[in-house]
Amino acid sequence: MTGTVPPGIHTLFDEQTIAERVEDLAGVLAQAGYESLIVVAILKGSFIFAADLLRAMHRKGLAPEVEFLHLSSYGSGLTSSGTITVLRDIERDVRGRDVLLIDDILESGRTLAFAKALMLERGAARAEVVALLDKPGKRKAEIEADYVGFSCPDKFVVGYGMDARSAWRQLPFIGVID
Ligand code: IMP
Ligand code: MG
Repeated sequence: MTGTVPPGIHTLFDEQTIAERVEDLAGVLAQAGYESLIVVAILKGSFIFAADLLRAMHRKGLAPEVEFLHLSSYGSGLTSSGTITVLRDIERDVRGRDVLLIDDILESGRTLAFAKALMLERGAARAEVVALLDKPGKRKAEIEADYVGFSCPDKFVVGYGMDARSAWRQLPFIGVID
């Protein structure tokens, strides 16, 4: 099953493949022993993944609270700069809580390293990371995801929440621009 693929884009992970992997990840998360769980979705890129993963987590019996953390790695191009800024913070106190950070891609790792440090600094009992995609060769910060959807080739990907200069977030699959 695939949505319409626009010209100039080819499919890397189709809808069916993503849906199956998301279901598997939820199964693993349900075995992780979380207590008092708060899921923190990092905006904007994770919004579709988070929405699907949360519903899959529900099917596996989890009932987390949900918060949103809007971060920006400054710059308008296709590569992230080093500086992470909080554009919109979460509203909950995470002290003593288990926190699961959800993001679309782990690339340099700066975004998730920042978010994880922030949660631990604020007293989270546990702060783990689930990333839909991992670009393994690209790390600049010292962080690995606890859970990964797919290993991603070193290409710029779009769709399923991810953008290229604000376009293509709406694609129901993950694609690469030719
Ligand atoms: P990091 O801080 O370098 O790990 O970058 C992670 C963020 O950069 C992700 O949350 C994405 O928003 C963005 N990003 C990195 N690679 C891509 C890509 O191939 N397509 C779209 N966004 C990307
Ligand atoms: Mg992002």
